[in-house]
Amino acid sequence: MPLELRGFTLADLPRGLEIEKLAYAPNPFTPVLFPGPFPEEAKKIRSEYFIKTLEEDKTARHVKVIDTEIEGDENEQMIAWAKVHVHKEPPKLTPRVFGPGSNVEACEKLWGDILAQRTRLVGENPHVCRNRSMTHPTQQGRGAGTMLIQWALGQAQELSLPAYLEASPDGHSLYLKNGFQDVDLLETDLRQWGAKDMHKTWNMMWYPKEV
Ligand SMILES: CC(C)(COP(=O)(O)OP(=O)(O)OC[C@H]1O[C@@H](n2cnc3c(N)ncnc32)[C@H](O)[C@@H]1OP(=O)(O)O)[C@@H](O)C(=O)NCCC(=O)NCCS
Repeated sequence: MPLELRGFTLADLPRGLEIEKLAYAPNPFTPVLFPGPFPEEAKKIRSEYFIKTLEEDKTARHVKVIDTEIEGDENEQMIAWAKVHVHKEPPKLTPRVFGPGSNVEACEKLWGDILAQRTRLVGENPHVCRNRSMTHPTQQGRGAGTMLIQWALGQAQELSLPAYLEASPDGHSLYLKNGFQDVDLLETDLRQWGAKDMHKTWNMMWYPKEV
């Protein structure tokens, strides 16, 4: 199997952000939430957020999946990546900031609802939060997403902490297969901004095995 987990460093960020853009491009809510245009300033703001997280946020852990059969260095071999936050203490949950090219009102509605739900479900409790995971669209269905979530669950099991995530329709069945349970379904109405359907986010929990 040519897929391997490796550490994700600052050098991986440009490729990571490219994968993020491509992975979310087919999502029907992307043009509603992020209609663009995206000046260089927008890319800078996004990149600075991840640099700050990589360098300063002690709760954040990043990982990537590489395909060792792709020609090139580890950066070029990267096909997927993920970030978790390990909250041994109750987390400080802060609202996300949206840069140029975003539909700020729609984004604040969606991520405001998501944050309120997260606060209600796990805000006060130590837990591992799978914050994001994505696979390059041409590489999906090969097991990289499974490797990422298994890695996140390994962190949670090691610390005997529950894991929490918010699943998109793309990831929902994968997380059910990996032992997460639905605890709620958040439906957000973005139709006033042109969405055709309700936006769905499954709130999911996983509990460590007792050792
Ligand atoms: C969700 C996401 C990260 C999954 O990544 P992935 O690398 O395709 O994940 P996997 O390959 O491990 O699993 C995807 C499917 O392929 C199946 N699969 C895994 N390995 C496989 C293999 N070797 N052969 C065939 N199928 C396989 C899985 O069982 C899963 O099936 P399901 O969708 O019916 O549950 C990816 O679809 C993505 O980036 N989506 C866009 C971004 C997004 O929504 N991210 C947030 C997710 S909450």
